[in-house]
Amino acid sequence: MPLSDFAGRNAFITGGASGIGLATAHALARAGANVALADIEPEPLEVARAAVAAHGGKTIAIPLDVSDAVAVATARDRFLAELGTPHVLINNAGVSLRPTLLGDVGPGKWDWLLGVNLLGVVNGVTAFVPEMLRRGEGGHIVNTASIVAMQVHPFLHNIPYRMSKAGVVNLSECLDLEYGLAEAGIGVSVFCPALVSTGIINSSFRRPERFGGSFSNDASAKVDSFTDVGAAATPDFTAALLLDAIKTDTFFVFTHPECADWIGERDAKIRAGFAQLDRVAETYASPS
Ligand SMILES: NC(=O)c1ccc[n+]([C@@H]2O[C@H](COP(=O)([O-])OP(=O)(O)OC[C@H]3O[C@@H](n4cnc5c(N)ncnc54)[C@H](O)[C@@H]3O)[C@@H](O)[C@H]2O)c1
Repeated sequence: MPLSDFAGRNAFITGGASGIGLATAHALARAGANVALADIEPEPLEVARAAVAAHGGKTIAIPLDVSDAVAVATARDRFLAELGTPHVLINNAGVSLRPTLLGDVGPGKWDWLLGVNLLGVVNGVTAFVPEMLRRGEGGHIVNTASIVAMQVHPFLHNIPYRMSKAGVVNLSECLDLEYGLAEAGIGVSVFCPALVSTGIINSSFRRPERFGGSFSNDASAKVDSFTDVGAAATPDFTAALLLDAIKTDTFFVFTHPECADWIGERDAKIRAGFAQLDRVAETYASPS
C-alpha cells in the first residue's frame, strides 16, 4: 500500500538546506510530516530548519556529508532517537560540475561527484532501509538522479555527472530485488529532473576538503548546458511531483515532457542493437 497520508510520518531528506530538498521538506511538513533535514552547509541548514518548523511538525537539522558512510549511519541513529521510525527517505543531496570535457575532470572531481551523487545515495539506502524493514511500517524511498541518466543529451558535456546519476537509476531499479521492498510496503521512486531553478551551479564551493576543497566551477565551463528544455521547473513544482509519486507509488518521476523524445531516441538505438543481433544470428554459421 503506498503512503497515502503524511501526517505524523517521519522523513529524512538529504540536501535539505536548499533547492529541491528544501521545497520537498516544506511540502512534507505542510502535509503533517516530521522532517529531518541533512545537509553539508550548516548555516543554510539551520535557516531551513527554522522555516520548515514553522509548519508545526517536529523538525531537526543534521549537518552531514552524505559521501561519508560512517557519518550517514550516525545521522540515522540521531534520526531514530529524535523522530523514531523512518517512513520517507529522500536521497536528494547532489553536486554538479559545469560542463567539463572528460580529459579535464581530474581525480578530485571524479571522487567528489561519484562520492556525493552515487555513493551518497548508497549510504542513505544502506543506513536507513534495513531499519525501515525492521520496523515494518512501510514507507517510500526517493532517489534523485537526473534526466541525463536516461538519455544521451546532444550538448551536455558532463560525463562524471551523468555517470553518477545513471548509477542512481540503476541502483533504484535494483532496490526492490535486493531488499524485498514491495512485500514490506516500501515503494521506490527515482527522480529524473531536467532543469530546476536552484543554486546547484554553486556546488563547487561545497566540495569537502578531503576531495580537494572548494573551487570555482567557472574555469571548467566549455559549453552551455540545457538549452532545449524550455522553462526551468520551480522547486515547489518538483516537490508536488515527489509527494504525488510517493502517494501513487510512481517509479520514474520527470519534470519536462520534451525529454520523452530524447528517451525515445535512446530506446530506438537499443532496439537497433537487438535488430542487429537477430540479423546476425539468423545468418551465423559456426566456423568449423
Ligand atoms: N537543479 C537542477 O536542474 C537539477 C537537475 C537534475 C538533477 N538535479 C538533482 O537534484 C538534487 C538537488 O539539487 P538542487 O538542484 O536542489 O541543488 P541545490 O544545490 O539547491 O541543493 C543541493 C543540496 O545538497 C547539499 N549538498 C551538497 N553536497 C553535499 C554533501 N556532500 N552532503 C550533504 N549535502 C550536500 C547542498 O548544500 C545543497 O543544499 C541533486 O541531486 C541534483 O543533482 C537537479
